[in-house]
Amino acid sequence: MDNLDQLVSSALTDFTTVSEPARLEDIKARYLGKDGSLTVLLKGLGKLPPDERKIAGAAINIAKTRVESALTERRDALRQVALESQLAAEALDVTLPGRTQSRGSIHPVMRTLDRIEQLFRSIGFDVADGPEIESDWHNFTALNTPENHPARSMHDTFYLLDADGKVREDVLLRTHTSPVQIRTLLAHVEQHKHLDRMPEIRVICPGRVYRVDSDATHSPMFHQVEGLWVGEDVSFADLKGAIADFLRRFFESDDLKVRFRPSFFPFTEPSAEIDVAFMHGPMEGRWLEIAGCGMVHPNVLRFGGVDPEKYTGFAFGMGPDRLTMLRYGINDLRLFFDGDLRFLSQFQ
Ligand code: DAH
Repeated sequence: MDNLDQLVSSALTDFTTVSEPARLEDIKARYLGKDGSLTVLLKGLGKLPPDERKIAGAAINIAKTRVESALTERRDALRQVALESQLAAEALDVTLPGRTQSRGSIHPVMRTLDRIEQLFRSIGFDVADGPEIESDWHNFTALNTPENHPARSMHDTFYLLDADGKVREDVLLRTHTSPVQIRTLLAHVEQHKHLDRMPEIRVICPGRVYRVDSDATHSPMFHQVEGLWVGEDVSFADLKGAIADFLRRFFESDDLKVRFRPSFFPFTEPSAEIDVAFMHGPMEGRWLEIAGCGMVHPNVLRFGGVDPEKYTGFAFGMGPDRLTMLRYGINDLRLFFDGDLRFLSQFQ
């Protein structure tokens, strides 16, 4: 029976040398499998004479039980090791801060647009919009902008390519919101063509515009808000009143100074630039340009299908990005478009 003892001890050693559960099962097969050494011994019992068979059988069974219990023990031990390493890997640090749900917020420029809309709605304006990919005709020609105007150069305006990669001359990314003036006039005239007297037009058109320009105060994409008021007796005095009143309400400041400085735009005559000056704060006393405006040029009214002998109007175009910078004291326009949460989350 020395053989059996050797067999058992070699099984026990083999078991302890493996650390992989799958390998352990391979080794088990070596002893207890179909052709395992103990199995073979048991099978061989039949060939022994009955009296020897009994003794040998008992001895083999004892050996088998020892091997089996060693196997079970090793299995349990390996399972425990696996469990412990899994627990260590999946350890939860309950003292870590939880995952918070971060709250979104309205972009500062959108806040300004909402505010502008709200203030103009309160004096009877509607909100209109137009396409950002605009025709050359709406963006320039109908706005009385001559062929040779510098704004029409590739230097200033993003043009589009056709399928062959050639620059198209008829479409562009709108360089201002003014083409919405033309779209509004044409639609309004069409809508009221059955009437003798056209009702007044009072709209603002907020939106994105594009120019080939990029530095701390210019971005290739920026925002504008166009305004248009056309009626039978609309005058420059109405323009001054509406704008000055709007700006005081926008900046919540009664002592804001507003100045109209003569200027030139092809689509207005006369034209002016609107400057504001704050009477307190870091910008105190400095004049800042915030919009262009003027009386709608008769040619523009004509292009819009409106008779300039019967109707007059004013228009303005302002920069809500600039207004936002002034209102919140922001010094770099690019902050609006970088998407940096450290900046944006300050406007929650
Ligand atoms: N469209 C002009 C620009 O982008 C701004 C402007 C000036 C709009 C005068 C107007 C206006 O409606 O009357 O520079």
